[in-house]
Amino acid sequence: MILLKVNGTDHRVDCPDNKTLLEVLREDLELTGTKEGCDQGECGACTVLIGGRPFRSCMMLAVEVQGKEITTIEGLAKDGTPNYVQQAFMERQAIQCGFCSPGMILTATAFLEENPRPTKKEAVRAISGNICRCTGYTKIVDAIMYASEKKGGN
Ligand code: FES
Ligand code: FES
Repeated sequence: MILLKVNGTDHRVDCPDNKTLLEVLREDLELTGTKEGCDQGECGACTVLIGGRPFRSCMMLAVEVQGKEITTIEGLAKDGTPNYVQQAFMERQAIQCGFCSPGMILTATAFLEENPRPTKKEAVRAISGNICRCTGYTKIVDAIMYASEKKGGN
């Protein structure tokens, strides 16, 4: 039995030592906003925040992250209101098929926390580990820059 703190709630999960955080989130906690893409640490679809920083949940064992603050896409909205990055992605039509969007938005949220006034080049670099199979990076980068503006960055 392990104890995971996800989106501010403690969860006790009966979980073997070799189960990944991604599997626990999707299968045990039914937080299916976290996507499984490559399952090899390459696409970023499974990104979650741990202690506010982005990590690939397919590459981590659930037992490793006990006691840490884990945030999934389901934890970003407050009282049903999307966070400013989610809002920017919607307003700028940066969600295409949507498969990469949770990982992109979590990565961008962590990035803008650290760098609220990024250049476009920095924004491109920040999401370089998140692959969009729709190849629609222009709108995604625009949405990140727009989120920065809306938050009083640029
Ligand atoms: S599913 Fe984890 S990096 Fe692709
Ligand atoms: S929006 Fe389809 S994979 Fe990115």
